[in-house]
Amino acid sequence: MCGIVGYIGGGSAGAKRIVTDGLKRLEYRGYDSAGIALAVNGRLVVEKAVGRIANLEEILKASPVDSHAGIGHTRWATHGAPSQANAHPHTNADGSIAIVHNGIIENYAELKERLIAEHGVSFRSETDSEIAAHLIGLFYKGDLLAAVREAVREMRGAYSICAMAAAEPDRIVAVRKDAPLIAGIGENCNFLASDIPALLKHARMIYLIENNETVLVTRNDITIFNERMEAVKRDVFHVTWDADAAEKGGYDHFMRKEIFEQPAGIAETLNRRLDEKGEIKLDGISLTKEDLDRIDRIYIVACGTASHAGLVGKFAIERFARIPTETDIASEFRYREPYIDDRTLFVCISQSGETLDTLAALREAKSRGARVLSVVNVVGSSVARESDDVFYTWAGPEIAVASTKAFTTQLVCMYLLALYMGRTRGVLSDAEYARVLSELSQMPDKLTALLEDEPKIRDIAKKVYKNENIFFIGRGSDVSVALEGSLKLKEISYIHSFAIAAGELKHGTIALIEQGSLVIVLASQDRLFEKLLSNIEEVKARGAYVIGLAKAGNREIEKRSDEVIYIPACADEVTPILAVVPLQLLAYHVAKLRGCDIDKPKNLAKAVTVE
Ligand code: M6R
Repeated sequence: MCGIVGYIGGGSAGAKRIVTDGLKRLEYRGYDSAGIALAVNGRLVVEKAVGRIANLEEILKASPVDSHAGIGHTRWATHGAPSQANAHPHTNADGSIAIVHNGIIENYAELKERLIAEHGVSFRSETDSEIAAHLIGLFYKGDLLAAVREAVREMRGAYSICAMAAAEPDRIVAVRKDAPLIAGIGENCNFLASDIPALLKHARMIYLIENNETVLVTRNDITIFNERMEAVKRDVFHVTWDADAAEKGGYDHFMRKEIFEQPAGIAETLNRRLDEKGEIKLDGISLTKEDLDRIDRIYIVACGTASHAGLVGKFAIERFARIPTETDIASEFRYREPYIDDRTLFVCISQSGETLDTLAALREAKSRGARVLSVVNVVGSSVARESDDVFYTWAGPEIAVASTKAFTTQLVCMYLLALYMGRTRGVLSDAEYARVLSELSQMPDKLTALLEDEPKIRDIAKKVYKNENIFFIGRGSDVSVALEGSLKLKEISYIHSFAIAAGELKHGTIALIEQGSLVIVLASQDRLFEKLLSNIEEVKARGAYVIGLAKAGNREIEKRSDEVIYIPACADEVTPILAVVPLQLLAYHVAKLRGCDIDKPKNLAKAVTVE
């Protein structure tokens, strides 16, 4: 995720080191390029580098310039690939205004056209952010504060922007709308940043900037203005966290932080793909009726958690788009002479976009003539670059090895894709399309409510964390959730666990069920509930301790289980988005009680780039 740092102090030096140090504190969030703008003798000096901040430092070391004021940025690519041109800061035409920006300017295409047509502006990057530099430059009449305010009136979207003007080296102006921004009080200096860790070395007294507020920072003052440009009073927030806790936003672990980021990630993934009328838009992805008529088969291929999202994707595509869909894990797919031709749509799913098995499967599918559409979280990653079309998840960087928010945003992408394909092929009624879309749009709120049940899950974890064998069963799309819950548990708590379709138990695995066996029953599918009841009876009869997970309102499950976890009521088709979350929390709390290294489990890596 992008990061912002701004600094203004006294003398004529210091900004170079302080800003780059601040950027380094944001490295953990993930980035692909970095840059800095310094106010030097009436002009702005901008330096940028692709890759690590160390690359930027090399460039800065070679340059004698320094300043009392500067703004810096780490970029996590959204619009445009990771490159020097797309890295921030961006400047206006004559380089007199520099900005760094986090978030998305949604109407950038429209603004860009206007700037080109009416003002002859020429753009140097593919980013939405560059718009902000040109707009501020156009409105600038010697007052940066006024120019920034005027510019943001033109913009729609979510952003925090930090700006400097060559002619006003003693002021930095920043503005916030739906993207984090803080101002920090230092000793004879002041700061701006997107996140607390960036400032922690120098400032522990901070102002939390709120939406639609603008902040003017000088060496001695920080003034916050509301939307009407009236100065507002803000209480100082004293940061007591250490650097490590600050990086995790006050959470104990990245995994827990990322679990709690899911409502926002899902909302973002949805918002990116819904137009003003609430219809699905697949901008940049070509799936016309003609394209879809040419497709007679879909393969969904991925590894680990992403492959479980693929299983749900298969359900959704076959249910809503009526196209035969196969799923496979990438390491098997590539060696099994798959039946693929130019009428095949190959969908690969990957958080990192760097998983070697997935990449190899993609290449195999391409070489056999398939068209490749990938669902990826990391912009500009290898999978994204080698695909014909990319459907990005907007989960933000996922740092914990155990994948959580990537999974739920992948599910959202698969549902959107399935609904879009069904509608375009004319096999899904308008009413069905609207019903499921409305269910999806309720997910962020339902998930927020569900996360409030964490204490209950923690209590269950206390009862079960000493088990050495845990079974997960379910039917329909609950099988995918069972597989994901089981994977989460084993990878971070090192408990042996096994997931299986409930109806398959009696064909062998039930031999393992004995007095005290722990069985987690996923019972979110109303239409399959009665069938599942007999499976619950089968394991109970052999002495199993049953934890049932069902929709709120299902009282029957209470009679049959030793513990019950409820998820908010929703349509059967979309339950995986909710049902997986208590299992993520259960795995987390069990692992914590067992004293495991949750964010970096043994033997595992975040991106598996070996075969
Ligand atoms: O980056 P990818 O989505 O391609 O990664 C695939 C798997 O390696 C990944 O999901 C892995 O299973 C996670 N550790 C699961 O939590």
